[in-house]
Amino acid sequence: MKLQKPFTLPCGAIIPNRMAKSAMSENMATKNHQPNKALNTLYKTWTDGGIGLCITGNVLIDRKHLNGEFNVVFDEQSDMQAIKKWASCAKGSNQHLWVQINHPGRQPIPFSKQKPVAPSAIRVNIMNERVFQTPKALTEPEIVEIIEKFGQAASISKEAGFTGVQIHAAHGYLVSQFLSPLSNIREDKWGGSLENRARFLIEIYKKIRNIVGKDFPIGVKLNSADFQKGGITEEESMQVIDMLETIGIDLIEVSGGTYERPKMMGSKQKNSTKKREAYFIDFVQKVRKQTKVPLMLTGGIRNIDFMEQCLEENQLDFIGIARPYALEPNLANDIFEGKTKSLEHLNSNLNGALDISVHEKYLADIASGKKPKILKGFSLKLFMLKNFFHLLKGGNK
Ligand SMILES: Cc1cc2nc3c(=O)[nH]c(=O)nc-3n(C[C@H](O)[C@H](O)[C@H](O)COP(=O)(O)O)c2cc1C
Repeated sequence: MKLQKPFTLPCGAIIPNRMAKSAMSENMATKNHQPNKALNTLYKTWTDGGIGLCITGNVLIDRKHLNGEFNVVFDEQSDMQAIKKWASCAKGSNQHLWVQINHPGRQPIPFSKQKPVAPSAIRVNIMNERVFQTPKALTEPEIVEIIEKFGQAASISKEAGFTGVQIHAAHGYLVSQFLSPLSNIREDKWGGSLENRARFLIEIYKKIRNIVGKDFPIGVKLNSADFQKGGITEEESMQVIDMLETIGIDLIEVSGGTYERPKMMGSKQKNSTKKREAYFIDFVQKVRKQTKVPLMLTGGIRNIDFMEQCLEENQLDFIGIARPYALEPNLANDIFEGKTKSLEHLNSNLNGALDISVHEKYLADIASGKKPKILKGFSLKLFMLKNFFHLLKGGNK
C-alpha cells in the first residue's frame, strides 16, 4: 500500500508511513500542567497502533494563556522527567512523535478569568463578553517575548526526546490571528500587508530553527482560509506557504476555520463538501501545483481507497486523521492489515463543542486503558446532562 511507504522530509528525517494523527487536545495533564501517566498510556496506545507521525494535542507555551483547564505547558516550570517519559512513548520504534505548540491568543478557555491577548483588541464574535473577553492588543516587546516562548517550548520538546514540533498557525489561535486581517488591524510591522501579518509566524519558525538545528523537523498547521468575509483568503494562504517553503519548512498540515467558523470539524460545511472526501482537498490540489513543500491534509478523510488515490496521484504526502483515532487507536495497523476499509462508522455527526467533549471522553477512556465506546442514544443524552451540570458548576471542559 502507498500508505505504508516511508517519506523523507526536507530536513532528512524519515517518517515510516503516511498515516498521521492530527493534534487533539487531551485536556488531561496534571493541575500543574505536567504530562502524567494518563497521557503516557494514551500515546503508547497510539504509537503501538502503527501511526507513522503522531502529533500531540496542543501544548501551551505560557501558563497564563490556556485553552483547556488541563493543558500541558512547556515552560520554565516544566518537569523534564515527566516530559521525557511522555516523549519516550515512541522510543524504540522509528515512528515520529511531534509536539504541537500553541498560544490561544483571544481564544482562551471559555468563561476564563485570564485576560486574553491578541494582535488587536478585537473580540471573538461568539455570544457575549463573558465567554471570550475583549483581548488586550500586544505591545511589540510582548510579541518578541511570545516568540521567545515558542522557542523555549521547542527546545524543551527536543531535549525531552520528541522527534519534531508543529507550530499551530490554524483554527483562529494566536498565530492565525496575526495572519487574519479580521483579527489583526495593527499598523506597525506586525500588521497590514500579508508580509507583515505573516512576520509573527516566520519569526517563530526562524527562532525555533535556530534552536533545534537544521536536522530537526518543524511543521506548521495552517488554514487554507478562515472562511469569513475579510479573513485570510486561499490566495494569501498559498503565499504564506511559499514563504515557509523558501525558509525550509518540513511539513504543512492543511486545515481551515476558526471558533467563529469551525470548518475544521466539518460543521457548517455544505453537504456536498461533507459528502466529498476531505474538506480542504481542493486547496491542497492547488498548492501541489505551485510548490514542492510536503503536504498533510486533515479534516473529514474517512475512505481508505480515497487515501490511497491521493497518494498514488501524488496530491499530498500524509493523511491527517483526528477523531477516528479517538475511537480506534489501532486504526493504522488495521488499515495496513486490510481489516478496515472505511472509517465512516466512526463519525459522531455531532457539532462544535459537544463533538469536542465527546471525543475528549473517548481519549480519557483510552488513557485509562479502556476501549472507548461510541456514545449514542441514551448514553449520549446522559453524557450531555453530566456535561451541562459540570458547566453549571463552573467547569470549562
Ligand atoms: C477533541 C479534539 C481536540 C482537538 N484539538 C486540537 C488541537 O489541539 N490542535 C489542532 O490543531 N486541532 C485540534 N483538533 C482538530 C483536529 O486536529 C482536526 O483538525 C479535526 O478534528 C478534523 O479532522 P478529522 O475530521 O479527522 O477529525 C481537535 C479535534 C478534537 C475532536
